Amino acid sequence: MAIRWLPDTRVWILETNHSAYALGIHPEGWLQHLYWGSRLVDPGDYPEPGHEYRGSSFDVGLQPEEYPAWGGTRFGDPCLKVAYADGCRDLRLEVRGHEIAADGHHLAIHLADPHAPYGLEVTLHYGLVPAEDIVVRHAEIANGGGAPVDLETALSAAWNLPPGAYELWHLSGAWGAETQVQRQPLAGPGEVLLESRYGHTSHAANPFFALSPVGETGETAGRVWFGALAWSGNWRIGVRTTNDWTLVAGGVHDFDFRWRLDPGEVWRTPAFVGGFCQNGLGGMSRRLHRYQRRHVLPAAPTPFRPVLYNSWEATYFNVTQEGQAALADRAAEIGVELFVVDDGWFGTRDHDRRGLGDWTPNPAKFPLGLGPLAEHVERRGMRFGLWVEPEMVNPDSDLYRANPDWVFHFPHRPRSEHRHQLVLNFAREDVRTHIFGVLDRLLASHAVSFVKWDHNRPWTEPGWPAAPAERQREVWVRHVLGLYEVLDRLRAAHPAVTFESCAGGGGRVDLGILARTDQVWASDNTDAYDRLRIQEGFTLAYAPRTMMSWVTHSPTWANGRQLSLEYRFHVSMAGGLGIGDDITKWSDEEMSRAAGLVAQYKDIRPLVQAGDLHRIQSPRASDITALAYVAEDRSEAVLFVYRHRTGPMHPHTRTSAWVRLPGLDPDARYQVEGERVRLYHGGDLGALRPVSGTALAEVGLDVGGLNGDYASRVLRVRRA
Ligand code: GLA
Repeated sequence: MAIRWLPDTRVWILETNHSAYALGIHPEGWLQHLYWGSRLVDPGDYPEPGHEYRGSSFDVGLQPEEYPAWGGTRFGDPCLKVAYADGCRDLRLEVRGHEIAADGHHLAIHLADPHAPYGLEVTLHYGLVPAEDIVVRHAEIANGGGAPVDLETALSAAWNLPPGAYELWHLSGAWGAETQVQRQPLAGPGEVLLESRYGHTSHAANPFFALSPVGETGETAGRVWFGALAWSGNWRIGVRTTNDWTLVAGGVHDFDFRWRLDPGEVWRTPAFVGGFCQNGLGGMSRRLHRYQRRHVLPAAPTPFRPVLYNSWEATYFNVTQEGQAALADRAAEIGVELFVVDDGWFGTRDHDRRGLGDWTPNPAKFPLGLGPLAEHVERRGMRFGLWVEPEMVNPDSDLYRANPDWVFHFPHRPRSEHRHQLVLNFAREDVRTHIFGVLDRLLASHAVSFVKWDHNRPWTEPGWPAAPAERQREVWVRHVLGLYEVLDRLRAAHPAVTFESCAGGGGRVDLGILARTDQVWASDNTDAYDRLRIQEGFTLAYAPRTMMSWVTHSPTWANGRQLSLEYRFHVSMAGGLGIGDDITKWSDEEMSRAAGLVAQYKDIRPLVQAGDLHRIQSPRASDITALAYVAEDRSEAVLFVYRHRTGPMHPHTRTSAWVRLPGLDPDARYQVEGERVRLYHGGDLGALRPVSGTALAEVGLDVGGLNGDYASRVLRVRRA
């Protein structure tokens, strides 16, 4: 499994465990995409460069290029579009050479504009992740000439699909309804543009795509080509179909983008990760999850994400030392491991109209600072965490009064406020220095071991008057790079601190932020039933261990739905478990049930956070949702079953559900632990008789004890 160069045909073949990606040098010198799909037995079977679509004088520009640059005969989405200082905007790239790393897992292809004085050089990078059938691509654009070059489009990669008709799977939504699974046939010629122009990743769309041949692919089988961008700012993924040819081009959005490359400078695009598999959407997700666990997520100080308590829905801005200490006492009683004080602890922050930006404890709420509360929490065996929103400022704050120029703004124009706040310009070094200093001191002085980093509005009026005119539009990118820089510096300075990404819920979930944060807050919508759909979409692309989910109040603020404590826990236990209700109001009986559920979560946590997810039944499909996490060595599993409502059915199916349990070793025998579980139409399994992995997958289980609407069960399955 490695990268090979075939000099005779001038072809590179990139093989992973199950897939292959091939490209070569066309006789005219340009880089031609050749193949992406299953691994072929014989290297000679891969297509060779040379062939291209040609017809009338209008049927031109249909060449399957690896990294299309705009110039000459090209009419689609370019990956690269530049303006040279002499006014020329026609870009030509020729292959100049390549290197394959000694381990055979990295390829760099060097391209250059043949007009030497322009000095424009492009290096395409391909990193191979053989076990997950993933190729990680990015590009570096260097100005080796004597005059500035303006980049007008500089995408990360283009992915050519084999000819055919596809349907597109993607994630869209809104605040409170993030990551909803969308399935969209690419009905004919045209382009589907997935994008964000909000400045941050966005709730409305997520930088992830999957394509499958029409009608072929489902959860468990079928071919799927997929990809995700490692970028937390404006992004675009364009899926363009011309005749039967589909091209996906993505990267930093070229909307209002311009990047000045001075002589000697290099621009490095974010990574665009792509993969191929034959085991449907489930196979895709498991590959993406493993890839994130092994190659993307930062090394965390604890092997598993702790059970956390978050104060937001319990106290909102009404934070006091006594109130938080009382919550912490109760949290410790039920087994919480990390206590997080959300918004409202700092500055004059009694509501959302003031205080943002002043990151010092409110003296009325914390007369002796945060120290006493942090110690109180630690004495109860928990770690202490804080909410911050470092990229934002209320105009009614000391920070803004002292530095009104630090926010995005255009001269002579109003500064639009959302949630009464403005966006600090992280492209500015003075802003980054200030924020790093404030947070560095906060983390050093208060035994803070967890930070929830929020971002609660889109960007508007993205002006940066202090920058030279030709660099003004770089602000979209430089803010994100500045955010990454501050996070990287904080992590380096405080390696024991873990970070959660939040943007009003799941507005900043992507592979870029996940390289710097340990987990994300998936949605402000904490209704457990709605959450099943949000979590289904989230796990299509992102690892369940990053997906924080709190048990909150019933009826929920979001929609008034009433759900049992068990159902709420069972939904949250399918990701990173948190609790976010006012637990001082829970009865003794609720406290003891909650303690039991937290203990059960700690027991199954290694499976949920490091196992392979199998989505068995979708909440979009029926009244039953089912999913399982299977240990990588298939020695055990945990099965989650949710019944949303009963219907006028056979008496037996009113209280039970039939689910298959895939993913186990077909030949091994397993014990299903729990009462009222039978092999379908068979005898009781509860601690009675072990059955094979095949039987669990093919015959399925009859899970009883699902009485009434919104009933749920969590079952443990162990190799006998
Ligand atoms: C955002 C977050 C919430 C909470 C509030 C605090 O909306 O998503 O979880 O932290 O901000 O203001």
